[in-house]
Amino acid sequence: MRHHVPIFRTKEKKVMAGAEVIGKEEIREVMEVLKTGVFARYAFDKERQGIWKVRDFERAFAKYCGTPYALGVTSGSSALKVALTALDVGPGDEVICPAFTFMATYEAVLEVGGIPVMADIDDTLNLDPDYIPNKITPRTKAVIPVHMCGAPARMDKILKVAKKHKLFVLEDTAQGLGASFKGKMLGSLGHMGTFSFDHYKTITTGEGGMVITNDLNLYHRAEWYHDHGHDHVSTVSRALDGRTILGFNYRMNEFQGAIGLAQLGKLNRVIAAQRKNQAAVMEMLSVVPKIKFRGMADPEGDSATFLAFNLPHAEQTKAFQNALKEEGLDTVCFKENFWHYLPNWEHFLAKSTAQTKNPFTDKRNGKVNYNRKAIPNAEDLLGRTLVMGISVKMPAARMKAMRKAITNAAKVL
Ligand SMILES: Cc1ncc(COP(=O)(O)O)c(C=O)c1O
Repeated sequence: MRHHVPIFRTKEKKVMAGAEVIGKEEIREVMEVLKTGVFARYAFDKERQGIWKVRDFERAFAKYCGTPYALGVTSGSSALKVALTALDVGPGDEVICPAFTFMATYEAVLEVGGIPVMADIDDTLNLDPDYIPNKITPRTKAVIPVHMCGAPARMDKILKVAKKHKLFVLEDTAQGLGASFKGKMLGSLGHMGTFSFDHYKTITTGEGGMVITNDLNLYHRAEWYHDHGHDHVSTVSRALDGRTILGFNYRMNEFQGAIGLAQLGKLNRVIAAQRKNQAAVMEMLSVVPKIKFRGMADPEGDSATFLAFNLPHAEQTKAFQNALKEEGLDTVCFKENFWHYLPNWEHFLAKSTAQTKNPFTDKRNGKVNYNRKAIPNAEDLLGRTLVMGISVKMPAARMKAMRKAITNAAKVL
């Protein structure tokens, strides 16, 4: 029997967090930009009438994360590429990445000419620090912990092993804005951190991203690279900027900056609402026999954007997922997901890059293993784990329907 009250229908599930709270603040910010007629972030000092939205967004974002430097870019994917470039990761370099991530993490490494090396996850569903040493070779240059589904990787251990082996740590925080590890905001713990503001993220600017760092030199390299090498020093004209390195164009525009500012102003409320709603859903799930919640590297630090739980066996998990679906409640089993689990990326496994000459054919690179047998934790855990999106707005009627759905579905177990 299907429910009459929609709970998490597929369409509804896609509206989360930032996109849920778009309102008059975003409209006001965008109107200010429209009125100036200057939509670009640099130059046109007179015409822009004192409006510098991207700059203001960067400053506010850096403050929120507790880092001195933040750089707005066009997406979370380009943020990764800009950061890897700033870290001087390039052809011949290997970068260790977890098998459970959005494929942009791997694509970014390939984009800079490096080779992504697959690593296993631990009970946090994030990069397993104990697995890293198995994958280190003389070519390893960096490691990318990805804070999946809003909760931190074991950053203390990851930082320790990285330091021991002299590796850069780039935190892919696309899904982890607002989450923290032992009091420090995610993205601020490693050498660099990157964020995404696409439509599904905790704050959204439609498309957009941010790179943060505590290191002025890395910030400069990112800043120069993301804008054709411009050093942004000239106060007279952009045409008179100095340049040292070549770059490309990953500039954020003023509309993105404006919306980002409005969204950032709502972030604390978003996180607080998610945490409250997540706690309520966890309590509902307590009727499910032998349920376990995802391991937490720091329970205080979860942004509560999602809720992940597991059952002892994959068959039970599937049965429970189907029963929840019957009741109108959609969940994701990431082992089956096409975009977030490496063994399901058939074009990646086929090394089907756009160009015939690519990092996989580069003789400098060693042989890498992307066989699912090499990641036993991910294979086991992700097959037994279900993930629910937690919304900001979960009215009482929806909560009530969820409780009923969960209670009914639990009867199959
Ligand atoms: C972990 C992770 N990294 C990177 C990205 C890429 O971000 P964008 O969509 O802004 O390019 C995403 C987006 O889903 C992501 O989830």
